[in-house]
This record gives sequence, structure tokens and C-alpha cells, in this order.
Amino acid sequence: MAAYEFIDHTFDVVVVGAGGSGLRAALGAAEKGLKTACITKVFPTRSHTVAAQGGISASLGNMGKDDWRWHMYDTVKGSDWLGDQDSIEYMVRNAPAAVYELEHWGVPFSRTPEGKIYQRAFGGMTSNYGEAPIQRTCAAADRTGHAMLHTMYGQSLSKSVEFFIEYFALDLIMENGVCVGITAWKLDDGTLHRFRAQATVLATGGYGRAYFSATSAHTCTGDGGGMALRAGLPLQDMEFVQFHPTGIYGSGCLITEGSRGEGGYLTNSEGERFMERYAPTVKDLAPRDMVSRAMTLEIREGRGVGPKKDHIFLHLDHLDPKILAERLPGISETARIFAGVDVTKQPIPVIPTVHYNMGGLQTNYHGEVVTLKGKEPDSVVPGLFAVGEAACVSVHGSNRLGSNSLIDLVVFGRAVGLRLGEILKPGASQPELTAAQTDPHVARLDRFRNADGSTPTAELRAEMQAIMQEDAAVYRTGESLQNGCNRLQALWQKKSDIKVSDRGLVWNTDLMETLEFENLIAQAVVTVESGNNRTESRGAHAREDFPDRDDKTWMKHTLAYLDQTTGKVKVDYRPVHNYTMSKDIDYIPPKSRVY
Ligand code: FUM
Repeated sequence: MAAYEFIDHTFDVVVVGAGGSGLRAALGAAEKGLKTACITKVFPTRSHTVAAQGGISASLGNMGKDDWRWHMYDTVKGSDWLGDQDSIEYMVRNAPAAVYELEHWGVPFSRTPEGKIYQRAFGGMTSNYGEAPIQRTCAAADRTGHAMLHTMYGQSLSKSVEFFIEYFALDLIMENGVCVGITAWKLDDGTLHRFRAQATVLATGGYGRAYFSATSAHTCTGDGGGMALRAGLPLQDMEFVQFHPTGIYGSGCLITEGSRGEGGYLTNSEGERFMERYAPTVKDLAPRDMVSRAMTLEIREGRGVGPKKDHIFLHLDHLDPKILAERLPGISETARIFAGVDVTKQPIPVIPTVHYNMGGLQTNYHGEVVTLKGKEPDSVVPGLFAVGEAACVSVHGSNRLGSNSLIDLVVFGRAVGLRLGEILKPGASQPELTAAQTDPHVARLDRFRNADGSTPTAELRAEMQAIMQEDAAVYRTGESLQNGCNRLQALWQKKSDIKVSDRGLVWNTDLMETLEFENLIAQAVVTVESGNNRTESRGAHAREDFPDRDDKTWMKHTLAYLDQTTGKVKVDYRPVHNYTMSKDIDYIPPKSRVY
């Protein structure tokens, strides 16, 4: 591989990704005196967290009484009992402090008349263990992620995190099961880089773009998950893909759940507020899996709206225009641009749209990547951390509650920083990297750079997105999932016929999209295979042929491994953590309530 040379860097910590979790982890590590790099393929403030709208959950109790135990109950129940309860407890107990930290750093939260952080209602968030909807989601109008990302980028700079911007991460450098760094390609000048680090943190986000219609940015190509699978690590719970109920029909742009939190509601072609039938207590504020299924059923049963009767209306037109302007300015603009709708007068056409991946790299609540080793289900992979949507910590289980993502990012980003501070010594010596460790990375890059087949990457990607959209949708069956497996296996074979037209290394978007496609298809394959394997319905995994949750057989996490040569998947399992973080917590859920 003499034709390619690496520029070498040594850091204590390398964070890959500059979204909310990456920035929080990076600044936390830097605060501990660790020399920290953050490498990112887009400018930090363009990371996908910037698109998060409705808010960040924490039981501050600013709008009435709240309790972290209620938040915990909602999250465990929302996860359809697949969430790890030690991680959930860690998240909800640390949530208020994490939000106040953001406030003190300068996040411009919306305010109550008394000047407290404003909180709105979100799906599945309730008071007193499921009794009634509660306002728990802290908001900066409907641009909460934007506000957080900009604030944390500023904070990271002030803590001397070193940014490597528009660097595309290629692969993890692994030595005997230990992660010793990462390789990356600098997009604007074509140079290759080796980052040697005591710890590498994957904060690379989800892989929503495996689907045709997603609220995710085009950059959400699951690059961390792709690297983990290539390193022989499994991904956990990949069958659980969240559909957000209100993506704009046609464009997929997000209309925040906060719009229903402010009083918006859904109607079918008969003008009926149908959620009253499906979730009599919380109605339009039921968890997302329930609302997405209800909308899909309404459409299927002929009560969709529009000429093709294939979507649903979201009404905000009854709300005070002053409230819309103050609390929902972003989505009012998005609805005008992408649906041609004036929200003060007309309903927004919406449809369930892929929004979030519950699955990812298995971690403990310190953000350490853990994996099954012999009989040990939670064995630490030394040197490797994951956080945010790339990770599966698993606080969301089989279905995430809205606004639990932003809190996941900052609570576990902070946890990673704390753990790194505990286990690393600033400037500790590190072994030299060898060519043998990174030759395969270069060989892979070179193979794609010179790929001279007959099928352009864009064609293969479009085929993958169509398969996922059709065969791994809101409702699945054994037949659709098997079909998806077969079609994706055929597509996997077609990778050998890929065509990349640009042979350069400077701003070669053709090559970058090809590398992204490889990351995406790997995760598409494990998603459908894991879904086909799980013969029950739970959270976002709704199987029509197995409509019930089956706790006896399936109260366990899926671990999926991918053979890179054959494209075949091996599935294993690990138990759910059904226990709380510490023994002295008096968390005893009362009798289960019906939403
Ligand atoms: O609807 C929303 O604002 C999305 C929030 C989330 O996914 O947490």
C-alpha cells in the first residue's frame, strides 16, 4: 500500500462525530485534562442534532409536580420492557442536572412567565405512573437541537477540543480485540490520517438513510455501526426502527411531536380524531409506535386523506397564531415550504416516517462498548466507547419516547467523559501503530476508488432504500421480512459490480457515498435479519403474523453479527437488565396502567 501514506496523530481520546453526544463526550474528556480530538464529516453545527425540534426530557417539575421515578416508569413502559433499567435509571436521575448544565452554558430555552425553563407535553410522558399526560419536555421553541448544538460547540472550543472537520472515518484500528484508534480520509485535500488514541468514542448517529423516506439528514449513514460490524462486533436490537408519526407527506421533513404537545391533533378522512379510539387516555400523545400504527391502520382501512387516501391530517389551525409563532415557528415555516400549507389555516399532510434507530453498538451506562464473550454478556471492549444514536445503551428498548433522545445524548455523553477521566491517564504512552493494522483499511478504500463495474452506487442505494421501505415498514410479516432478506442478499452480491466514476481523492463525493452505502447496506441487512428472527411484536417491531408480545421467549436483546464476505448474519442474545442501578432505590412500579 505504498501509494497511500498516512499522516499520524496521537491523542488520549478521539471522538468520531460532532452531534450532541459527540460534543458532550469530547468536552467532558477535555475537561478531565485528556488531549481530545473530534473528527467529523460535516461542520459540527451541521450535525443532525441540529434538526432536533421539540425538546429534551427531564423531570424539572416546572409546569407542575414531577418525579424522576415517573419519568423512569414511562421510559421502561415506552420501551415495551426491553430497555435496560439500570441505564434508564441513570438517565432519568441525571436528566435534570444535565439540562441545568445546558442552561448554564447558554442554551436559550423558552421560558415560563416566572422565568423557568418552559416544558411541553410529549408522547408517553405521564404523571403518577401513567395517570395523565405531563409537561416534561424542555424546549427552545421548536429548535431545541439547534440551540444545544451551537452552545456545546462553543463550549467544546473553550475546553480546547481539537476539531478535524470534513474528515471521513474509514475504520477502527483493532489489535487483539482492543481499539487503538481510527483511520480517516480528509475530504478537502485527499490525505489519509491515522489517529492513535487510548480511547475511541463512536458518536456517529443513526442509519436512517437506509430507508427511502426518513426525517434523518442525508449524512445519517450509520458510519460507526458499519465500522463496528467490519471489526467483527455485533449490533444490538437492530430490528427496532422508529417511525415518527408526523413526517410531511412527500418530503419526509419532521413536524415535531411538540406540535401535538401544544394541542395539535390528527384526523382521518371523516374528520375524526381517531386517536381517541386507540388511546382513550393520552390520545394524540400516545407513544410513537402506537400513533404510527394507528395512522397506518386508518389509511389501510380506507380513511386516509388526499386524492390517494394515503396520508393523515395534522391540525394546528385551531391554535392561537401567537402561540404558533412563539413556540412552533420552525415547523410553521417547514410546513409552508415543504407542504405549501399555512398552519394557521390549513392542516398539514403527514405520514409515519423513519426517524430513529433504537439499535446500535451495545454499551453499558458509562458508554463503554460491551459485548458477549463466552458466557459474559457485558464484557468491555477495551478502548472503544459509543454514545448517542450510534449506541444502544439501551434506554429506549424497542421504542423511544420523544425527547428522550436529546437527554440520552447529553447524559451519556457526560458519562463517557466521566469514565474516560476515571480510567485514562493524560499523555500515557501508547503502542506504535503498524502497517498490518491499517493495510486492510487502505485496501478497501482503494478497491472502491477503482471500482469499475457497471452499477453506479446511487442505483444500488435506491434499490436498498426501496427494499427497506417496502419490507421493513411500520407493520411487518414473516413474508415481507424474508422477502427483504432475500432482496438484500441479492443486492449484497451486486456490490461486486459497483461503479465509481471519480478516481481522485479530493472531494470525491462518489467515493464517499460509496463508503456510506457500504455502511448502510450492512445495517439494512442486520435490521431485516434481526426482524425476521424476532417472532413477536414489541414496540416499533409490529409483526402481523405474531401480533402479541412474548415475554417468555423474547424478553432479550438481539445481537447480530455480519459476515463481510458472504453478507450472512449470525444472531445471538443477551438478557435485559431488569434491575435498577443500585439496591437502595425505592422504585416499585404500581400496577400497570393502560395508555
Ligand atoms: O418530534 C420531535 O420533536 C422529535 C423529538 C425526538 O425525536 O425526540
